[in-house]
Amino acid sequence: MPHLFDPFTLKGSTLRNRIAASPMCMYSAEDGLANDWHAVHLPGLARGGAGLVMVEATAVTPEGRITPGCLGLWNDAQAEALAPIVRNIQAAGAAAGIQIGHAGRKASANRPWEGDDHIPEGDPRGWTTLAPSAIAFGANLPRVPQAMTLEDIARVQQGFVAAAIRARDAGFDWLMLHLAHGYLAQEFLYRGSNTRTDQYGGSAENRARFLLETIEAVRAVWPEDRPLIARLGVIEFDGHDDQDMAEAIALLTQAKAKGLDLVDVSIGFSTPTAQIPWKNGTLTAPYAARVRAETGLPVATSWNIGTAENADTLIREGKIDLAMLGRPLLANPHWPYAAAKALGVERPSWVLPAPYAHWLQRYA
Ligand SMILES: Cc1cc2nc3c(=O)[nH]c(=O)nc-3n(C[C@H](O)[C@H](O)[C@H](O)COP(=O)(O)O)c2cc1C
Repeated sequence: MPHLFDPFTLKGSTLRNRIAASPMCMYSAEDGLANDWHAVHLPGLARGGAGLVMVEATAVTPEGRITPGCLGLWNDAQAEALAPIVRNIQAAGAAAGIQIGHAGRKASANRPWEGDDHIPEGDPRGWTTLAPSAIAFGANLPRVPQAMTLEDIARVQQGFVAAAIRARDAGFDWLMLHLAHGYLAQEFLYRGSNTRTDQYGGSAENRARFLLETIEAVRAVWPEDRPLIARLGVIEFDGHDDQDMAEAIALLTQAKAKGLDLVDVSIGFSTPTAQIPWKNGTLTAPYAARVRAETGLPVATSWNIGTAENADTLIREGKIDLAMLGRPLLANPHWPYAAAKALGVERPSWVLPAPYAHWLQRYA
């Protein structure tokens, strides 16, 4: 079995190790445009040694942003702002990926450090939110969304396709569809947020339709040799975990047949009443292992992987293929170098690009 610092090849992309910087919203954009913050933050993660750096959830339409500070990819200027960042990530030895999505009923919110709640109705900073059905999330996100018409659904799916084309042309190596965390795609899948009576609601097959159609449409424009991956919430911790897992596995089996290359196993976050066992340490790894075994898809996961030993063990035991790291990389972008040292990798500096590695090796 490979270990954390073995390369990982998926389609035409080979990562230098199994560490990926998980997509993390910076809420620091204006009009969806990447700026100096993103230009320093993202290549910094690549310089720290990650094999793959994923750009944060990037909205495919303006109303699909979580907050007014989220990145977008609904126009060419946004793609042009991302292109040099892609090149800088790649120059530091990592593959560049981007997560595209639509926030559905969780959109039009304040930044987490400015309340993390819906912008009040009528406030000019906010906007009308869209979702499969006119059902609010609740708790801190009480805004009732507008139920999407079939035209809305087609327009948003076209937004995914157009964003994928822009990501392709900006040079991204990997594309991740955000089908998780209670945002639009997950809202279609989750029973409690989708009470539609048309072909997009009701049976598990109908609730999966938006996701599968989107995967298929994006695959048609995303180059065959570049990985197309998705983050999916396979479990909600809402008392229906067996059913949720079974539906997710059925969906992913079909997604694999439609050209999905890897799934990043995550949590649904579809209801504020979920009982998420935060204190359990690694949260999603057991579910990722099950998805890997039952679908045959390569898997990644995040959620409290935390230590080098834990990440390495999950990979050596064949439970996951790729460790997605979020908060550990915010705390220390050079986490991969520290992990290589902790695991006794023979020349740990080799996880870093040459301008750093040479000196750390020489004076080790
Ligand atoms: C600041 C921050 C922003 C995040 N933004 C996103 C995002 O844009 N897309 C996403 O799928 N998950 C997002 N997440 C979740 C992370 O990608 C990751 O799954 C989560 O933090 C668990 O990994 P960790 O325990 O290593 O932090 C975010 C997490 C943090 C801390």
